[in-house]
Amino acid sequence: MKVSRPRFAIYLGVYLFCFVALSPYGIADQHATDSAVSYHSQVVPLLKRSCQGCHHPGDPNGDLIVTSYADLKRGGMAGDAIVPGEPDESLLIELISGDEPAMPQNQEPLSTEEVELFRRWILEGAHDDTPDEVDDMDEGNHPIYTVPPVVTALAYSPDGSTLAVSGFREILLYDTTNFELKARLVGKAHRIESLMYTADGKILGMAGGSPAQFGEVQLWDTATNSLIKAIRSSYDTVYGLSFSPDASRVAFGCSDQTVRVLSVEGEKELIKFDNHSDWVFGTVFSTDGSHFVSAGRDTALKLVEVDTGSFVDDINSSNKGYGEINTIARHPTEDWVLNGGEDRIPRLYKIFREIRRDVGNTDFNLIQAYEAQSGTIEGVAFSADGSQFATGSGGGEARIYNTEDGTRLASMQGDAVGVFSVSFHPNGTQLATGGFDGKIRIFDTATGKLLNAFMSVPIEPAGSEDVALVVTGMT
Ligand code: HEC
Repeated sequence: MKVSRPRFAIYLGVYLFCFVALSPYGIADQHATDSAVSYHSQVVPLLKRSCQGCHHPGDPNGDLIVTSYADLKRGGMAGDAIVPGEPDESLLIELISGDEPAMPQNQEPLSTEEVELFRRWILEGAHDDTPDEVDDMDEGNHPIYTVPPVVTALAYSPDGSTLAVSGFREILLYDTTNFELKARLVGKAHRIESLMYTADGKILGMAGGSPAQFGEVQLWDTATNSLIKAIRSSYDTVYGLSFSPDASRVAFGCSDQTVRVLSVEGEKELIKFDNHSDWVFGTVFSTDGSHFVSAGRDTALKLVEVDTGSFVDDINSSNKGYGEINTIARHPTEDWVLNGGEDRIPRLYKIFREIRRDVGNTDFNLIQAYEAQSGTIEGVAFSADGSQFATGSGGGEARIYNTEDGTRLASMQGDAVGVFSVSFHPNGTQLATGGFDGKIRIFDTATGKLLNAFMSVPIEPAGSEDVALVVTGMT
């Protein structure tokens, strides 16, 4: 185990030293102070019970977040809430003390003992003794599955040699010549929501995270299958990854209704776009990288300028009652965006407006609305030349269409329950589907014939392995 025992032991040692050697109370009063206040086991439970309700990342009162040590240390609107070693200089102590404490606001004050606990913790240096995540998973130690995980994302590499598939905490790479598993990329994020290769195929990008903990973007070097970097952003799983054409930027959607754009090199957040009114599931860049389009539950397709981060246009008509958008894809060579979702109709739009918006707000950017699918649309993808696109929907059907005239070219059973992701082989001859039942299916795009079906992950018989690593349900 690579848990933080040594670190903890050092802290403990330091504390004991301090109390024995430096405590003003000396040995006689050792009883009250013989062990240091633990942030992890004493302070955190108090924060959770009495403070977190109003000081959580979703809507932090006074800009103060208490759900992590780093956030608490960062302080709030008024600056530092705690000054290590100086309880009397700490705003937090001031607000929870006195005859009518201001915090917790309008609630039962903390008990004298609880206030004293905060005081002592700060006096002792306000240390973070949170143990490191117990984490035995890495390259050599993969998750073990007893039931199939839902497949949420699929992507062929641009050279067609590899099919990347989402698993639990890992991305699985399959050789497309024999569909054998050739690598497993294990990371920290529990959920893999979106996979995309850069155009040159050198980087495989992932957007996902661990629900209610962190969102994460991972960038993997496809030559070595090693993690280049994992960038955390927001406090929840993130969705709909896309790279700018030059791969210098990465965009993704968040459950906090924002779209974020990061620089790949500097890992800096360049844009936090907050003009959506619900979760954002998809992002795409324009062909020249000057703009991006984002969409999600609020039904709007929004156009945003990359340099300024400013909103440019609602691409689709917002008053048509189209329903939530689950997925979007950009045409490989044109500034056209295809979207699908709740109302089952794939719609293709021009990204840039050519006709001025009218009072009636008619759908002027719409190029074509296609045939309704048999279920809510969960995944869309273009073929490499853009002449065809595929849909995957709830109910398990996948279909292929001629982009230009809307002819349906193939219908396939892409999953027993629901298809969540579709991807064309770059040479256009094959379509991969993945979804609820955990199987990957490969279809011939010309005939719709099933060429191959295999489980997305190796499944172990139940009870055969260390329980801690067993993935037992939907991720
Ligand atoms: C019922 C809601 C609520 C609860 C519970 C609550 N707070 Fe607050 N807190 C607020 C509000 C609102 C503010 C902003 C104060 C203002 O503007 O008057 C605030 C501000 C603060 C600030 C000042 C932040 C700054 O920099 O301006 C601190 C420190 C603070 N709270 C600590 C706590 C602690 C510690 C607890 C738990 C013991 C707690 N709060 C519980 C509502 C709450």
